Amino acid sequence: MTILVTGGAGFIGANFVIDWLAQHSEPVVNLDKLTYAGNLGNLASIANDPRHHFVRGDIGDGALVARLLNGHRVRAVINFAAESHVDRSIDGPAAFIQTNVVGTFGLLEAVRAYWDGLQGEEKTGFRFLHVSTDEVYGSLAPTAPAFTEQHRYEPNSPYSASKAASDHLVRAWHHTYGLPVVTTNCSNNYGPYHFPEKLIPLVIHHALASKPLPVYGDGRQVRDWLYVGDHCSAIRRVLAEGRLGETYNVGGCNEKANIEVVQTLCAILDELRPRVDGQSYATQISFVKDRPGHDRRYAIDAGKLERELGWRPLETFETGIRKTVAWYLANQDWVQDVTSGHYRDWVERQYGQAAP
Ligand code: NAD
Ligand code: TYD
Repeated sequence: MTILVTGGAGFIGANFVIDWLAQHSEPVVNLDKLTYAGNLGNLASIANDPRHHFVRGDIGDGALVARLLNGHRVRAVINFAAESHVDRSIDGPAAFIQTNVVGTFGLLEAVRAYWDGLQGEEKTGFRFLHVSTDEVYGSLAPTAPAFTEQHRYEPNSPYSASKAASDHLVRAWHHTYGLPVVTTNCSNNYGPYHFPEKLIPLVIHHALASKPLPVYGDGRQVRDWLYVGDHCSAIRRVLAEGRLGETYNVGGCNEKANIEVVQTLCAILDELRPRVDGQSYATQISFVKDRPGHDRRYAIDAGKLERELGWRPLETFETGIRKTVAWYLANQDWVQDVTSGHYRDWVERQYGQAAP
């Protein structure tokens, strides 16, 4: 038995693969295109684990996916691969359509052909788990109830629209072809290996580099934060016991305004790594131009996952954010490698071409 993880060199995928190998004996085939967001440094701790097979490639490459599925007799696919950054999707939406929509379509077709050829328990036990986001539901009013799985899809950014499209394809491949799928829609993650273009790692990095901490607009936008290890445990639960064709919301009941998150990070850094001049990192906060179409509030109701599958997060925001700051302080080499671009050198040496 083997699982195929796509996008396993990115933030959440790498955390998932590392956790999986720590908890299961089952091997992992890790298919990742190594875009700017993919970093084999995230997988350094399992570089010598013979159960981890890394393959550089595109989820849209049907022939490659077919070879991997057949060659390893894969029993489940967990699809993390995506373009994931909202600001980049505003700047250049084409890559988002290509990977999140066209790529997911190609992956579904390759998986369907493989699954069609399976027999007996191999066929009934097969799973395709699609990892998606709460952003497909759009923006909530300040006092509206949190998103349930029944909330209508109202994506507002090129990123969330492309993820919504991929969710619809996954749903249709189940409804029309019977492909055994489950989808998870998770809130904002944070934790180790988070690429420093996203709010939390960017603020930690800028704070330590004595740079301004950019807060978009009035900083009152609300996100519902979940520690990445808790997202990974939810995915394992849904993979093991999720009902076919269902979607499960994943979140930690940790709604925070962005400015509150930034102030919390500053306070923890003031304690763990005080500035040499004795001032607070909060003096570096700088309000900047808002993101176009910026969603005001996301909040997840994860009640279905708790009721049906008994999942609960282990971390509160307070424990998770402290662990995260400590991880970044202890892993400044990783941050340096990423922010300097050095992590791309290996890709170019290995593959002999400029990385995409
Ligand atoms: P990420 O950007 O850190 O990683 C994405 C990975 O996918 C990278 O390693 C990249 O190289 C790879 N990739 C991109 N295009 C590919 C392609 N065509 N073929 C193969 N690999 C490709 O993203 P992340 O934050 O780890 O998110 C992973 C998944 O979880 C995404 O589907 C995202 O939509 C979803 N999600 C993320 C969050 C969050 O807060 N980060 C929350 C909910 C859901
Ligand atoms: P981000 O980490 O990009 O995740 P998402 O857009 O998927 O929610 O951003 C989280 C929130 O932080 C979002 O409301 C935008 C805001 N933000 C800033 O205020 N400043 C920044 O520099 C960044 C990257 C994000």
